[in-house]
Amino acid sequence: MYIGTEQLTHTYMPGTPFATEALQDITFNLKQGCFALIIGPSGSGKSTLIQHLNGLLKPTAGQVFFAGQSTGSDKKALLNLRKKIGLVFQMPEEQFFSETVFDEIAFAPRNQGLGEKEVAKRVSDAFKKTGLKSAGLLKRHPFQLSAGQKRLVAIAAVLSLNPEVLILDEPTVALDLESKNNLFNLLAKLNRKEGLTVIVSTHHLDDVAALADTALVLNQGRLMLWGPLEEVFSRRELLHEMGLSLPAVTEIMHSLAESGFPVNTAVYTIQKAQQEIMAAKKRG
Ligand SMILES: Nc1ncnc2c1ncn2[C@@H]1O[C@H](COP(=O)(O)OP(=O)(O)OP(=O)(O)O)[C@@H](O)[C@H]1O
Ligand SMILES: [Mg+2]
Repeated sequence: MYIGTEQLTHTYMPGTPFATEALQDITFNLKQGCFALIIGPSGSGKSTLIQHLNGLLKPTAGQVFFAGQSTGSDKKALLNLRKKIGLVFQMPEEQFFSETVFDEIAFAPRNQGLGEKEVAKRVSDAFKKTGLKSAGLLKRHPFQLSAGQKRLVAIAAVLSLNPEVLILDEPTVALDLESKNNLFNLLAKLNRKEGLTVIVSTHHLDDVAALADTALVLNQGRLMLWGPLEEVFSRRELLHEMGLSLPAVTEIMHSLAESGFPVNTAVYTIQKAQQEIMAAKKRG
């Protein structure tokens, strides 16, 4: 097991009239280098689960594992964990607090006590990885950037710690199509070329599904399904019952199959769908 949980339960405000059991008995494990989706409707516990994976929230019961070990609750161990597991929050740019993009990306490495020379290198490397180009951007105020640029700066601010795992909570919210595509290209590069384990929470499966190999499905704080993406996506009715739909292109393939056109339904991109439909046509 590389990263995962064992019978993880989390209750907010336990012992009060407001107690909410946000996660119940969650057990799963992910392989190093995977690209996993955490899928679930609003309020299903995605953000709560994600915040356990890098030690920001502590389990009410059960355990979280990283690199084969229980992450425990020792303060030093948790600080170390947060260096290895980078977390990009939902709408991260709302939490920008620095005067320049440079300082925003430099915050975490400076906080670790690294020298300014190393900090500058970390900033430059992280900035370049995101595909942001103009060096002038680093001197700008973070609030002067476009929504897509802000999101990439927020990711650079986490990459500057050189994490092994990158977790993003609903990273496409409020982005236009071009910014989404930039983001997906970046995640694909980090996962496939740099070997980072990537975990993304979402309730829009449309675009990110083509990148992922594993999926976890949460509903009302329970883990309903988890495993290889194709297996999870084959449980279409269960997903529909939870108010989730498969990527539009996959739904179309299911409709075709149901109406007697013999296509493979495990298709998540328009390009693949075209190939599959042409192949089915040839097969007659
Ligand atoms: N800080 C908190 N205090 C009390 N209850 C909370 C807190 N944060 C979340 N909850 C509750 O825990 C449950 C799970 O919330 P969570 O934010 O993890 O869901 P989510 O799947 O991330 O939802 P969304 O898609 O809307 O972001 C919900 O019932 C929510 O109301
Ligand atoms: Mg959330």
